[in-house]
Amino acid sequence: MKKIVIINGPNLNMLGVREPEQYGTLTLENINAMLTARAHALDMQLEFFQSNIEGELVTAIQSAADADGVILNAGAYTHYSIAIRDAISSVKTPVVEVHLSNIHAREDFRHVSVISPVCKGSVAGFGEMSYVLALYSFS
Ligand code: DQA
Repeated sequence: MKKIVIINGPNLNMLGVREPEQYGTLTLENINAMLTARAHALDMQLEFFQSNIEGELVTAIQSAADADGVILNAGAYTHYSIAIRDAISSVKTPVVEVHLSNIHAREDFRHVSVISPVCKGSVAGFGEMSYVLALYSFS
């Protein structure tokens, strides 16, 4: 059974109430429950982690070294955290970058992802389905 770690960064604990026109109405718990159901069908085991703190995300990525994959929504850190990029580079575990919104269709500062070049792939713009598509990429 494959083990996949789902890591969510800053403000993603606010899903459901935070800018629903941008991020939808599902809570992070709703999304995680949906992923758990999908994972069951794919014979995958999931672990979930969320933090608003950059260093905790770095530690979570390092700790996923034994997993088969990481699905990472780094939130705003996507756009400027070299520490998170270096953490991704430092583990062999493939990391798939996800975003609920299409970051390329939003403000200019969101068009740059400093983590994309060190990720296995990126999925953006499909709401909660971005996570599901990322999960399937490990099947
Ligand atoms: C986000 C996009 C980021 O630009 C933003 O800072 C987020 C959420 C997304 O899932 O669409 O916090 O990662």
